[in-house]
Amino acid sequence: MIEKKQVFKPNKEFAKVANIKNMCEYYELQESAMEDYEGFWGDAAKEKIDWIEPFTDVLDESKAPFVKWFGGGKLNVAQQCIDRHLETRKNKAAIIFEGDRGDIQTITYLDLYKHVNRFANLLKEDFDVKRGDRVIIYMPMIPEAAYAMLACARIGAIHSIVFGGFSSEALRDRIEDAEAKVVITADGAYRKERPYMLKPVVDEALEGKTPVKKVLVVERNNEDVAWVAGRDYSYNELIKDKSSVCEAEVMDAEDPLFLLYTSGSTGKPKGVQHNSAGYILWAQMTMEWVFDVKENDTYWCTADIGWITGHTYIVYGPLAMGATTVMFEGVITFPDAGRPWAMVEDHRVNQFYTAPTAIRVLHKMGEDEPAKYDLSSLKVLGTVGEPIDPPAWKWYHEEVGGGRCPIVDTYWQTETGGHMVSPLPGATPIKPGCATLPLPGIMAEVLDPATGEKSEVGETGYMCVTRPWPAQIRNVWGDEERYITSYYSDVKKDGRAVYFTGDGAMYDEDGYITITGRTDDVINVSGHRMGTAEVEAAIKKHSNVAEVAVVGKPHPLKGEGIFAYIVLKEDEGLADEVEEVRTINNIIKKEIGNIALCDDMVFVSGLPKTRSGKIMRRILRIIAKGEVVTQDISTLEDPSIVATIASKVQSCS
Ligand code: PRX
Repeated sequence: MIEKKQVFKPNKEFAKVANIKNMCEYYELQESAMEDYEGFWGDAAKEKIDWIEPFTDVLDESKAPFVKWFGGGKLNVAQQCIDRHLETRKNKAAIIFEGDRGDIQTITYLDLYKHVNRFANLLKEDFDVKRGDRVIIYMPMIPEAAYAMLACARIGAIHSIVFGGFSSEALRDRIEDAEAKVVITADGAYRKERPYMLKPVVDEALEGKTPVKKVLVVERNNEDVAWVAGRDYSYNELIKDKSSVCEAEVMDAEDPLFLLYTSGSTGKPKGVQHNSAGYILWAQMTMEWVFDVKENDTYWCTADIGWITGHTYIVYGPLAMGATTVMFEGVITFPDAGRPWAMVEDHRVNQFYTAPTAIRVLHKMGEDEPAKYDLSSLKVLGTVGEPIDPPAWKWYHEEVGGGRCPIVDTYWQTETGGHMVSPLPGATPIKPGCATLPLPGIMAEVLDPATGEKSEVGETGYMCVTRPWPAQIRNVWGDEERYITSYYSDVKKDGRAVYFTGDGAMYDEDGYITITGRTDDVINVSGHRMGTAEVEAAIKKHSNVAEVAVVGKPHPLKGEGIFAYIVLKEDEGLADEVEEVRTINNIIKKEIGNIALCDDMVFVSGLPKTRSGKIMRRILRIIAKGEVVTQDISTLEDPSIVATIASKVQSCS
């Protein structure tokens, strides 16, 4: 068994040619950022970005926490990802697409240029999409999704991708909040060799009053779909006569690039706003540093483009650096748990990036599968989204990585745009389950929220970032107040509000950072954030629900599962409970989607509350875990409820 304390030093051969070769280089970079922060970022931006007009100012903090980077600079992110590569890489594969059923498309940089320009012309000419307009993308994992993103970037429209697993209500909420005028979708796609549908969900989301004027439908599975004349248009038809040349809009460094909605501890999901230059700069830099991608490498991230990982590390980061990125439509365990390893072998994948949940599932379903394939092309393995446990780490390291590939445990968030704390594969001695050190240029610190001082070794503190960084969230779309209260109101360092991630973390004796989990009411299900408030709001839509409290519970595969305590208005016994579970599940599916379905639903007669009416979630979390409540409960409004709930939970498990 690999112990958490064990240290894995970088492979010497790998380090020799790595972009950052040793810890001295790392410390030099980090110290240079500390000494001259603006100089560090200004130099990086000059070197990495093909500016249309150079920036005149590096960082403007005069309205902090609203910050501006690279003022005066003009660029176009689609040009950064495509046009600038044409001279040297036009025949290089930009995207290798593998469909669910094994169909493969290789899209070169020149192909990508043409597809994106045609798409951009379509949006401009047929859909009247202009700079600054919001475009919702509700798409499967097909190349057209990437074209759509880049087409928006090319014409200065702001895209907002909604994960294809979200329901019509969730889609409607996001459309309304973003006031989007266009939705780009597909009839559907394939999962496990069977068609599934997306367009009907869009139809439902647009029922009634909506800001959306037009819907563009990409034909993928060619199943029949309903068609609203004058609103719905076929991409495959309209794209035919579009020119493959489209002049790129000249964008300001701080023009918004995209919105991505993510869960918070309260209220509806927040529209995290990322702007152009800072985001693309950091996407590119982290690709080069953290994955150490080289010119002839093939890189594969298994995320969905509906999440930030897919944005930064399937589309924007790899393409900005001119890499070859693999895009996969299917399910990694289908037709069996050898699928990803067969793909690694087929495409000679060099860097493989996935979530611990996926590793746990692949391990459980196909412990011996990796050995059946040639995985010798692999150089770097990555994880993201949640802590990785020692058994999963060990299997990933030994069976997938052959003991030779460094595992980069990348800690970051939708709001951070790119990696924040992560090993560098050629430099950092790695400890399993530990995100290790802040990346160069990132002033990530674990702080004691009471004092704003660095936390002591072994003490849990708050994971903060004490200086702005280029790829940081710029605003919660349309809600400046929420931006401040969500990120800049919990921790102060030297009297100044600093960015708080919502995560707890801890230093070890080497200064390494281990993430200990959320400090708020956000649950991490399979590496995806789920707000307890959102799930509660959905459950409350059922007319027979009087009260509900949702908490996270450790789950062997998903990391955390969703546990709901529900008080019914009329409790009529077990037979009805089964029916109520079904009804509530249907409501959750409709309001949010399958990803929010509860792992446990327990009907109780009341919830533990303080005398002022606050629900004691901490107690509910302990009971959900099956542990005994030892804390003082005498101050509760009704202390006896704790034992009643605990015995109900026990009888259900
Ligand atoms: O709690 C942290 C966890 O995932 C949260 C961010 O979720 P999201 O915005 O959906 O982005 C996920 C992909 C970047 C964080 O607040 N998290 C992310 N990476 C790690 C992690 N927890 C532990 N270790 C990680 N490497």
